[in-house]
Amino acid sequence: MTDKRRISLPPYTRGWFQIGWSSDLKRGELKKIRQFGTSFAMFRGKDGKVGVIDDICPHLGAHFSEGGTVQGNAVRCPYHHWCFDRSGDCVDIPYAKKIPAKARVGTYHVAERYGLIFMYHSQDGASPPAELPMMDDFVEQQYDRPATYEFAIRIHGQDIMENSVDSAHFRAVHGHNTPENFFHEEGKELRITQAVSLRRFGVLLKGRLEFHMIEPGFHYLHFPQVMGTQAQVFSSIVPIDAQSTNHRLTIWIRKSMVPGWSRILRHFVVSEMMRTYHEDMQIWENKEYLPHPVLCDGDGSIMKLRRWYAQFFESTTLDSSGIPIPKSAVDTLACRESA
Ligand code: FES
Ligand SMILES: [Fe+2]
Repeated sequence: MTDKRRISLPPYTRGWFQIGWSSDLKRGELKKIRQFGTSFAMFRGKDGKVGVIDDICPHLGAHFSEGGTVQGNAVRCPYHHWCFDRSGDCVDIPYAKKIPAKARVGTYHVAERYGLIFMYHSQDGASPPAELPMMDDFVEQQYDRPATYEFAIRIHGQDIMENSVDSAHFRAVHGHNTPENFFHEEGKELRITQAVSLRRFGVLLKGRLEFHMIEPGFHYLHFPQVMGTQAQVFSSIVPIDAQSTNHRLTIWIRKSMVPGWSRILRHFVVSEMMRTYHEDMQIWENKEYLPHPVLCDGDGSIMKLRRWYAQFFESTTLDSSGIPIPKSAVDTLACRESA
């Protein structure tokens, strides 16, 4: 692949981010998580609780996720078998009489809900100012077992979220009507309702779609009416590094009283969603991020979305309309000023 671009947006935001699915991490399992330009070791102890620690042993630098094991509720390093618990303390060195006070590893706040595992991330390691957000009125037991998908895409997470309010692409890329976006802002959150319609099997299907953008990593869609039922999608957008994003989708369909109907609906909704998703992905993989795009009156609320997103960057320079100034431009400015 050619090195086609350098994304000029700040790569990371603070907040809660999904790092996996509960069913993929059994008791006693340890996994490597590659996110935010580094790697973490995620594990589930004997007590069933999940821990996330930095993936570098403070002893001599081995990676826990490369051959480390879970011992009780702690992680044992593969190199000299030092053990660290979920709070980061070294709890055992098999050959030492005294554990050094500095034998500690960085840890992260973790929460598990809806069958998803989340960690809180901020550049300075600060604690979360609030608990993991919730999905409004979502009762997991009322829905069937979800379908799950995971992709790694060469794009910034903001670009993926922008796609939801990019009205014109729905007709051009997906063959839908051009939806109208109704925005509601509640504090830090952005909620958007879209009226959508598409023709399938010669029938005009109409629906409503509600986007709940709570944080860059906590974003979900609710379909209040889709072929006589409801659907819910958790759309997890997590930076892998400065160039790539991990996008996980968890798709629930509400249980039906009619035997077999949920399965048919699930098949329809999931395949329709994946079709549009792959259409978007073709564009995403090959587009540039333009900090100051040339927009027209039918383009939807792209700049509004960007201003909302900018509040989550940790420290960055914003222009007069609240949009982050690309790092390259700030560097150029600094060079000019110091010349
Ligand atoms: S490097 Fe981890 S125990 Fe030595
Ligand atoms: Fe799209």
